[in-house]
Amino acid sequence: MDKILVLDFGGQYNQLIARRVREKHVYAEIKPYDRISLSEIKSEGYKGIIFTGGPNSVYDETSAHYDKGILDAGIPILGICYGAQLMAYMGGGKVESAGNSGEYGKTALTVRENILFENVPENSICWMSHNDYISAVAQDFRIIASTEKCPCAAMCDEKRKLYAVQFHPEVTHTEYGKQIIENFLFSVCGCVGDWDASDYAQKVIEKYKEKFAGKKVLLALSGGVDSSVAALILHKAIGQNLVCVFVDHGLLRKDEGDFVENTFRKKFGVNLTRVNASERFLKRLEGVTEPERKRKIIGEEFIRVFEEEAKKIGHVHALAQGTIYPDVIESGKGDSAVIKSHHNVGGLPDVISFDEITEPLRELFKDEVRRVGEMLGLPKELVYRQPFPGPGLAVRIIGEITKEKIKLLQEADAIFREEIEKSDLENKPDQYFAVLTDTKSVGVMGDAGTYGYTAALRAVSTDDFMTAEWTRIPYEVLEKASGRITNEVRGISRVVYDISSKPPATVEWE
Ligand code: XMP
Repeated sequence: MDKILVLDFGGQYNQLIARRVREKHVYAEIKPYDRISLSEIKSEGYKGIIFTGGPNSVYDETSAHYDKGILDAGIPILGICYGAQLMAYMGGGKVESAGNSGEYGKTALTVRENILFENVPENSICWMSHNDYISAVAQDFRIIASTEKCPCAAMCDEKRKLYAVQFHPEVTHTEYGKQIIENFLFSVCGCVGDWDASDYAQKVIEKYKEKFAGKKVLLALSGGVDSSVAALILHKAIGQNLVCVFVDHGLLRKDEGDFVENTFRKKFGVNLTRVNASERFLKRLEGVTEPERKRKIIGEEFIRVFEEEAKKIGHVHALAQGTIYPDVIESGKGDSAVIKSHHNVGGLPDVISFDEITEPLRELFKDEVRRVGEMLGLPKELVYRQPFPGPGLAVRIIGEITKEKIKLLQEADAIFREEIEKSDLENKPDQYFAVLTDTKSVGVMGDAGTYGYTAALRAVSTDDFMTAEWTRIPYEVLEKASGRITNEVRGISRVVYDISSKPPATVEWE
């Protein structure tokens, strides 16, 4: 399997670079520049290296630098943005500040004939984001592209297979960005393009068969896509020696607990224990209205329940977690095991004794995890499940949580989700659900007056959930959902739609 190293100098698009490479079926891994030495790079057998962008100027004392010897290591390199400037600087060229005339955004690019620009027209649009620029290339390099303000928008030293672009080929605004990355991977580095997330999962399964033969592995299954796919990989490898514990805190969506149980136990034959702990959770949540307190109680109780179950199983060799690649990169911890911050598993390693943590998905991006899930036969509802908070409906019921309120919310939420799923919206929201407010208001049904809760509907469109826009759902869909909720759910007499974006509002209400 060919491997590309994305040497991370702190740029904002680093994950995107790795994903673009993997999209071409070449495996890419990201390593911070200060966590991998030149000798390690040489011994890893990388087919090529990509220097990422970075926030600083190469002349800054504190900015990221690397051993110059990398240029002569015999490994092809593509420098991007700061990575391009660094390459120029390391080779003995000159980088200068453009003062107030840096380039930001879409920029007209002119390229010269070169292997990096195969199938790229002479004139196209690229995405620029820089203030410093390469004012003189190093010896052995030549300029192969320019823009109006940037005399060296790309350069190369063909003999050493060193290439650099000032613009960002990884972002979609660069018209021929994908082509340029493809040219680097296949024409320059000679990659084959035989990597695939599902083959990769197959290899992990084979590895686990040997590694965990005759050993027990424990996994907290939540029904989210990550823990579900991790469970299936391990199940394929070690069968009944994978023990899954599914803690049902009673705050799941309508029928969700049964669905998860049936899928894993009946469809896949997974060794699954479902703990119906809703009474315990409800008891501890009695009278609690403060959101953070709710979260804390649920987190603590979850660990307690899980611990009790784990004790029944006896010694387990490994604890499995559904950590995925972005969690690993973001934590910046490289190779050491990272404890996922999700409250459901966050505290487990402290209370359960085991010999190791294993993370079957730690090298996969979310979309790759989904692909593996599909390959393993996971139902679409689970593969494409929208995010659901660990504390569940507790953070969607404002005020005290009672059995009655949970039931009302489950019903209203199921109706809203069904209506969205039925509608053929061009752009489906990325997350959509109902909230039960603690406001009651008067209504009328037939001749009788009612006094019921107000449900709020929430739908957001987002790329990363850090920021989100409220989704413009057509009135007809809202009307249908509202009509059905107020008619079918006795106890809810009014429905409102949340038109707040994040920031300043959050996605969840609590
Ligand atoms: P907020 O409300 O912070 O939500 O804008 C952003 C995303 O995170 C999810 N979320 C949680 N997920 N445990 C989780 O596992 C939590 O306590 C939690 N709180 C919010 C939320 O559903 C949204 O997708």
